[in-house]
Amino acid sequence: MNKTVLAAIIVTISMLGFTYIAVGSAGGMGGEDWVNKLAVLGAVVLVLVTTFVVTKYVRQMQNDTAGGKLADESWDGIGEYKNEPPFGWAVVYFGMVIWAIWYFLAGYPLNSYSQIGEYNEDTAVLDKKFEAEFAGILSNPEKLNEMGESVYNANCAACHGLQADGMDGKAADLHVRLSLQSVKHVLMNGSNSNLLGTSMPMPDRNGLLNTNSNALITDAEIDTVSKYVAGGFKGEGADVFAGTCAACHGADGKGMEMVAPNIAEMSPSMVEMVLNHGKKGAMGAMPAFTNLTEVQRKAVAAYVASLSQK
Ligand code: HEC
Ligand code: HEC
Repeated sequence: MNKTVLAAIIVTISMLGFTYIAVGSAGGMGGEDWVNKLAVLGAVVLVLVTTFVVTKYVRQMQNDTAGGKLADESWDGIGEYKNEPPFGWAVVYFGMVIWAIWYFLAGYPLNSYSQIGEYNEDTAVLDKKFEAEFAGILSNPEKLNEMGESVYNANCAACHGLQADGMDGKAADLHVRLSLQSVKHVLMNGSNSNLLGTSMPMPDRNGLLNTNSNALITDAEIDTVSKYVAGGFKGEGADVFAGTCAACHGADGKGMEMVAPNIAEMSPSMVEMVLNHGKKGAMGAMPAFTNLTEVQRKAVAAYVASLSQK
């Protein structure tokens, strides 16, 4: 028997063997699952066709002698036959050019179907239905809160926890406006999270002047004022706050529109800003949630704001 054919038979048998080990023995052949059987059949056909084609070409390479007319060029005795490109190639080549032009002008870009597009269309339809069903919910605080709780459970609980306590520092504890760690982090590093809906940043310690002493804020002052803010604006630190922060955040810390955010309370508008722009801070990054509808964002903002008032 020819060596090549022998090799092909050995390869075929071992590939079929591997196929059987991989899928056949794992229940692929038995049982009622015809999809599995079809897949196994496909694998067997692939193995047979592959070895047949490879054997055919290997034998052709062994036995074929080239023929035809030699071209004039010769490179140190190595010549080149004049072979017309096969007609089929030319047909496929021009066919592809025509297809590419059609595809570019009229196929994909203009008349496109995509799963993402279908998903977006479906979502838009559902959002419309949803908005019709819950029209007027914005003037119904109780229902809004209820919706907010479901939006929370579906979108936020994974990080903030079912109890909204931040699950050991994975995300902010939403019952308090700011942790001590967060305030300190902002004073040391500044903050640039679009909390006002504009890119107005909060300066870091090198831009924080205490007008009581007319000097940059000190380490000790950062400590006391951070405790003051995180502790709910009670205790020591009121003077530092008045001298350093009140000009922007207001005497009560409730913020000023377009100047500085509310750092005294978890106000719904502040939560909405976090949902619109995300937030980077001491604990890490919170992604923006612009995939929620406006009503859903307002609802979950109302719900989160209500947590800290309980
Ligand atoms: C020049 C005005 C200005 C001054 C002074 C200022 N802030 Fe701010 N602060 C801002 C702005 C603007 C932001 C919002 C930054 C952002 O979008 O991330 C901010 C954000 C913050 C935040 C982050 C709020 C959050 O939700 O993460 C904290 C905390 C804060 N300020 C505390 C202070 C304290 C404490 C002081 C005084 C020691 C102070 N700020 C002084 C303008 C100011
Ligand atoms: C991938 C995790 C993750 C998800 C999901 C997530 N958050 Fe957050 N969130 C964070 C992290 C981390 C922070 C803290 C950022 C920082 O260090 O200031 C945060 C901070 C916040 C804050 C600011 C609290 C404060 O006082 O600074 C609010 C409000 C908030 N998240 C609300 C939500 C809401 C509402 C949802 C659901 C729609 C949500 N988050 C989903 C990770 C997440």
